[in-house]
Amino acid sequence: MTDQSPIHARAAICRGNSEPFAIQDVTLDALRPEELRIRVVACGICHTDLAVRDKQLPVPLPVVLGHEGAGIVEEVGSDVTVAKPGDRVVMSFNSCGHCPSCAVDAPTYCYEFFPHNWSGMRADGSPTLFADGEPMNANFFGQSSFATQAIAHERNVVKVPESAADIPLERLAPIGCGLMTGAGAVLRSMKVRAGLPIAIFGTGTVGMAAIMAAKIAGADPIIAVDVNDNRLAVAKELGATHAFNAKDDAIGKIRELCPQGLGYVFDTTGINKVIQDAWSLLAPMGICGIVGASDPADNLTFNEAEFMGGGRRVMGILGGDSDLVTFLPDLIAYHQEGRFPFEKLIGYFNFDQINEAIEASESGEVVKPVLKIGSED
Ligand SMILES: NC(=O)c1ccc[n+]([C@@H]2O[C@H](COP(=O)([O-])OP(=O)(O)OC[C@H]3O[C@@H](n4cnc5c(N)ncnc54)[C@H](O)[C@@H]3O)[C@@H](O)[C@H]2O)c1
Ligand SMILES: [Zn+2]
Ligand SMILES: [Zn+2]
Repeated sequence: MTDQSPIHARAAICRGNSEPFAIQDVTLDALRPEELRIRVVACGICHTDLAVRDKQLPVPLPVVLGHEGAGIVEEVGSDVTVAKPGDRVVMSFNSCGHCPSCAVDAPTYCYEFFPHNWSGMRADGSPTLFADGEPMNANFFGQSSFATQAIAHERNVVKVPESAADIPLERLAPIGCGLMTGAGAVLRSMKVRAGLPIAIFGTGTVGMAAIMAAKIAGADPIIAVDVNDNRLAVAKELGATHAFNAKDDAIGKIRELCPQGLGYVFDTTGINKVIQDAWSLLAPMGICGIVGASDPADNLTFNEAEFMGGGRRVMGILGGDSDLVTFLPDLIAYHQEGRFPFEKLIGYFNFDQINEAIEASESGEVVKPVLKIGSED
């Protein structure tokens, strides 16, 4: 702790589903040695923010959400080596750094994920933010970036490479969650092989990122399935070779197209029936990757003989098995090469339009809303 006067910020407070987000004044706690203070330039809005608002996740309310932040480092704790004041950074999820998953560079499966990301406090129970002098739940995904200033951590901040100096932070902001998850699911979790067919169910941010990554991996065909025809049209622009509306016998059409079965199916809808139908399309050794948030009471049913007999696998995936330090720069490089054109998914909103941005996301009008919170200079 230092004796500096507190840093003031504006933050969007989420009080639950009946109330719109309200922007109000907050103050930040003093930095710990392994923390950084980031002036937030932009932050994407993700379905996980809305799942918290709707109490589908065990994050305490009221809370400052936002977990796809990008900004400029303003201050660093004494132990920080990952970035220095003035650096342009993107933020992602936090992790403990020493559990068995972190030890093998699989921090999305950190044994301490909850206290580091969802408890509303630091993992040691101390608050990072105050409103009206009282502790406010924050430190969401180790950042709470629906705010003009965020406290982040050595382990969830990635410096934007100098080679990407010309890419605005407002575009890079969303890279640390849904985009990373969809791309990582294909390239890192399922390790999609060139020449094998894949079907992607749900073409929101996660599904669209998976489609772009499937093209990078050389999957063929790449089949997109959604109930929204506008999204299916974008999916084709991004690399889907076929696009089927789920309401129009998509499963039957996929069977016809690939009678031998699919190497991979990837579900982003979290709907049981969709996952089970998708699974039934798998060829021997096929993998069914699942990422969608679902009702905690949901169970899936698979036929045991088909499961074992064909060596089929069902794979729960978090964060696309991303190791931030290596994978985020890889994705930025793909973007620069024009192979990960996620800018086509973004719609921009000013910070004070946060409720309009959420509405645009929920109506399906904008795939990836990004809030512009501050200028880069
Ligand atoms: N596991 C993880 O690490 C992780 C990370 C980020 C997001 N998520 C979750 O992944 C899910 C997808 O995120 P998103 O941001 O892409 O959400 P999204 O809502 O934008 O995308 C879901 C898509 O599914 C489509 N859909 C709905 N019903 C369908 C059906 N029956 N068949 C086919 N498509 C259908 C919708 O039209 C929509 O386009 C969410 O549940 C989110 O919470 C998980
Ligand atoms: Zn860990
Ligand atoms: Zn997210």
